[in-house]
Amino acid sequence: MCGIVGILGKHEVSPQILDALKRLEYRGYDSAGIATVHRGQLDRRRAVGKLINLSDRLVHDPLPGKAGIGHTRWATHGAPTEANAHPHQTGPVAVVHNGIIENFRALRDELTAQGAQFSSETDTETIVQLTSRYLAQGMTPVQAARATLKRLEGAFALAFLFDGEEDLIICARRGSPLCIGHGEGEMYLGSDAIALAGMTDRITYLEEGDWAILSRGGLQIFDAEDQQATRPAARIAVESVQIDKSGHKHFMAKEMAQQPAILKAAMEQYSSADGSDVTLPEGLDFANVDRLIMVACGTAYYACQVAKYWFERYAGLPVELDIASEFRYREPVLGPRNMAVFVSQSGETADTLAALRHVRPHIGQVVSVVNVVTSSIARESSFALPIHAGPEIGVASTKAFTAQLQVLALLALRAGRDRGRLSEADYAARLDELRSAPGFVAQALDREEEIRRLTESLSQARDVLFLGRGVMFPMALEGALKLKEISYIHAEAYAAGELKHGPIALIDQDLPVIVMAPHDPLFEKTISNMQEVMARQGRVLLISDAKGLAEAGEVPQALQMPSVPDLIAPIVYAVPAQMIAYHTALHRGTDVDQPRNLAKSVTVE
Ligand code: M6R
Repeated sequence: MCGIVGILGKHEVSPQILDALKRLEYRGYDSAGIATVHRGQLDRRRAVGKLINLSDRLVHDPLPGKAGIGHTRWATHGAPTEANAHPHQTGPVAVVHNGIIENFRALRDELTAQGAQFSSETDTETIVQLTSRYLAQGMTPVQAARATLKRLEGAFALAFLFDGEEDLIICARRGSPLCIGHGEGEMYLGSDAIALAGMTDRITYLEEGDWAILSRGGLQIFDAEDQQATRPAARIAVESVQIDKSGHKHFMAKEMAQQPAILKAAMEQYSSADGSDVTLPEGLDFANVDRLIMVACGTAYYACQVAKYWFERYAGLPVELDIASEFRYREPVLGPRNMAVFVSQSGETADTLAALRHVRPHIGQVVSVVNVVTSSIARESSFALPIHAGPEIGVASTKAFTAQLQVLALLALRAGRDRGRLSEADYAARLDELRSAPGFVAQALDREEEIRRLTESLSQARDVLFLGRGVMFPMALEGALKLKEISYIHAEAYAAGELKHGPIALIDQDLPVIVMAPHDPLFEKTISNMQEVMARQGRVLLISDAKGLAEAGEVPQALQMPSVPDLIAPIVYAVPAQMIAYHTALHRGTDVDQPRNLAKSVTVE
């Protein structure tokens, strides 16, 4: 989603802002822009499409100035046009904005009635129009920004730049993340620490409701009640913001390849010294929980869907599962003995965060499984469990998914032990199985060349169907989501047994059907469903292990996975799901890391 940058520098800031915007590209965007103040005058350049277009514009029409703000826009209100691109400027003020101003229609009507002329369709323009009106009434920039913030409803991160003010940026955080970087006689702000990597590693995170006045000499932070506030500055580890492809063609390829090492590291992080137990934060208690409520979006939701099987099977714990955008609108019944688990790579997904805030007053234990430990979801939960996957830049989530599965499996096993459902021997055996996951994932990654060949014909398909049963059903959903996201081929997933209740009507010789079926207790039933597809000329690709492939008989196409314990099968089968999407996308020549229309961190509801 939209990315924000601001710099009060010693030198020309446009090139630095452009670099920082490049580091924010992974969030997804469709236009970009920069504004600076030079010799007291605000000026801006904006361009539709990739940053190269903005960079070309700056070559022909440079933007001097040592103070500036920049933005990558993911369109919400109004198409991705230059007029709708940020920074927005009205008279002496320019603004960049991430989020949505929910009362923008009322504000726009009010301002229009007072003679304001709007030049864009965005909600953001109401902000600069308001601020400019307050400045015209004689307020100082700080007073005008503050007065504006008080009128805004919704979730946002904002940065203001003013005519005549070359040592001032005002910024605010309500709902969308914002951090401030400290330099030597320079000051920076960004949507995340990755944006500021290369400029500084000393970062202050604004808290919810904070607003701040930045100058080269210092920083003043105020809380939502306008009281001056102190927020710590912390050093960020370089590797936590490193965003190179390490020799891979795409971030997605690098992130898939990292999975064995990440799974091993995550396992070590959560293991007791002798490896016999799962170490969890003090106070996290499964013994007295009567129901687990799991909430997430997209791939993280599918991780929860797999985990539901684990919590029910290994811990006897009933699980209720919701897509975050639906959760609070169905008026869920919540009780003090419920535990809520929110899963999110970014930790900033607006719907997941809103769901967390909805349950917090009613539920004792609010747990989050996150990758970004400084995120809002991590900070607002009672127990934040990091997945230790490192920055995930590819829009299609890969390593975060398998790491989420690993941490959720650890939680389910520990819950099973604490609730007396798993004996010590079973607990130890299952932990050993989990410990073997990185090795099997590495073996699955070794099938890349075979997968690449299989996707040659798949890349010609118009639609693809994924089938699975039990834990392989969410894996089928994940496979279909990955394929849609990065290859733009329409894909659907069904529980294999559900096929004959309608979707089987779609089967013909043109429809590739990918069946995910390790040799587990549901294998035979899945294979019967696969036979129903083959009997109707469906083009089957069976993904199974040696035993499964031998028992399944002749199939049009097959992909052999290692034989693995049932517990870790979803973690291992994530690899073909990811690789099929990746290689299909490569054949089709789509933008793997930044697919059209998508944002990495979805900070609007
Ligand atoms: O950051 P989150 O894990 O909360 O993000 C949730 C979804 O937006 C995310 O998983 C999305 O579906 C991915 N692009 C899937 O690859």
